[in-house]
Amino acid sequence: MLAGFYIVYNKSKKYFCLIMSLEQEISKRRTFGIISHPDAGKTTLTEKLLLFGGAIQSAGAVKSNKIKKTATSDFMEIEKQRGISVATSVMAFNYKDVKINILDTPGHKDFAEDTYRTLTAVDSVILVIDCANGVEAQTKKLMEVCRMRKTPVIVFINKMDREGQDPFDLLDEIESHLGINVRPLSWPIGIGSTFQGVYNMFENHLNLFDSNKTKMEREIVSIKDINDPVLNEQIGEAADDLRENVELIEGVYDEFEVERYNSGDLAPVFFGSALNNFGVQELLDTFVKIAPFPRSRETNIKVVNPTDSKFSGFIFKIHANLDPKHRDRIAFLRICSGKFERNKFYQHIRIDKKMRFSNPTSFMAQDKSVIEEAFPGDVIGLYDTGNFKIGDTLTEGEKMEFQGIPSFSPEIFKELVNKDPMKTKQLEKGIQQLTDEGVAQLFIQQPGNRKIVGTVGELQFEVIQYRLEHEYGASAAFEAKNLYKACWMTTDNEQKLEDFIKRKATNIAKDKDDNYVFLAQTRFLLQSAESDYPEITFHTTSEFKTEMVEQ
Ligand code: G4P
Repeated sequence: MLAGFYIVYNKSKKYFCLIMSLEQEISKRRTFGIISHPDAGKTTLTEKLLLFGGAIQSAGAVKSNKIKKTATSDFMEIEKQRGISVATSVMAFNYKDVKINILDTPGHKDFAEDTYRTLTAVDSVILVIDCANGVEAQTKKLMEVCRMRKTPVIVFINKMDREGQDPFDLLDEIESHLGINVRPLSWPIGIGSTFQGVYNMFENHLNLFDSNKTKMEREIVSIKDINDPVLNEQIGEAADDLRENVELIEGVYDEFEVERYNSGDLAPVFFGSALNNFGVQELLDTFVKIAPFPRSRETNIKVVNPTDSKFSGFIFKIHANLDPKHRDRIAFLRICSGKFERNKFYQHIRIDKKMRFSNPTSFMAQDKSVIEEAFPGDVIGLYDTGNFKIGDTLTEGEKMEFQGIPSFSPEIFKELVNKDPMKTKQLEKGIQQLTDEGVAQLFIQQPGNRKIVGTVGELQFEVIQYRLEHEYGASAAFEAKNLYKACWMTTDNEQKLEDFIKRKATNIAKDKDDNYVFLAQTRFLLQSAESDYPEITFHTTSEFKTEMVEQ
């Protein structure tokens, strides 16, 4: 369809409606994730964005998904709440005629892999940094994934109402620890008790701070340029410091260019205080101006552009229904091209099956509703009775699979032990479905069909045990395995690989896709395998183009 609006008569509902072209639908959408180290302010910022976007009316409406104590009961409680209101996984709202889709990412480090996968479904991210703590461990890992995918990043330095590090030191830290170039677009006047607001270099205005958490309107003062005497009237002696700082910034940092931001090379930086609603509107206004439209994505055979007329999309998250009476799940589909329509048949590529969906769901802030159609950039929920695995592709028939949803080597490995032989079937089904959901990775070892479960955190084992019991009626325990890494292998010399697999049989397993994996017990044993078998390359991610750099 060509660009432009179309007025059509809807026969069944008997009204005229305005139809936008696919290009127009795409250009209205911005799909992004907010990432941060736990406690930097991700939940608070998300909530404030929704408030400014008019999607919620009061603070406190967004449920925090962070887990303060690493106890299963807390996790299950949070998951139950989230199960009831799955909307918290995707929060869509309209702002200035743009449809914004925020994808929620778990802050807890034990769920890092879930966050990595969600990052495959966004077109850009906002990175929240606590001004006192600067760059933290989790921030580094998440940024590594963004860098690998060249995801455009906007940095929001939060909690400026509290004492923190010098802003120049923070920028240096971000550049050196996260490996990205930055360009401040606003600059703070003071910090903590001396914080007076920010000077917006992009728009040439002063945004004055008022520590009123409920106030949404800010005092904005227009400034001709940095030498305007109005500055002295407004912020007194701090004006001279500000002038010096701005001069330094213009001299040291590159000019802001949207193209560089879009290619993931330059991150604009804002300062603010999410809790005090401060700097959030500026962030949102800039975001809608510069954040990229839905981007093209690679499949195993070609690059798919959002404007391609045929529908395609992939599953990046599966959310279980925690009510044991209903085994159904919600699979989250990111639409990559064309138009998705309710009740139309689509091809599930991995299992080679035609499927149609009668209740596809969209998520607007806190409401779920069944939709008739959806467009690139949108994320919709599909009710699933066990057909989907993370990474699955749906198309109008074309045989292709989206790339870039790799599994990373787990950090902790345990063997699953069946405690009730009468419930073997339930256990098999349960562990299979839970690993399809991405709760953990499953490696099967022969002989004996032994199941090694790998995770990035201890918490998942408790979750699996709890869910196996409550949802599948199976009783299981875990026995610790002393393993260092799971490595996927590639080679040009099949004979050597076969030889290796035979010789190392006790440390070989198969992953969910039937690929051989080497379970190395120690770093030393991995290194000696590498030197004994130079023909084989050992990878710590399942997708080799996007290999993560070891920390
Ligand atoms: P997270 O999702 O990244 O884990 O962080 P979250 O938003 O939950 O924020 C972590 C803590 O930091 C919260 O306090 C929150 O109120 C506080 N916070 C967020 N933004 C700001 C800010 O701009 N200034 C200040 N001073 N604090 C901020 P908490 O005591 O852990 O939780 P709560 O009891 O306030 O909910």
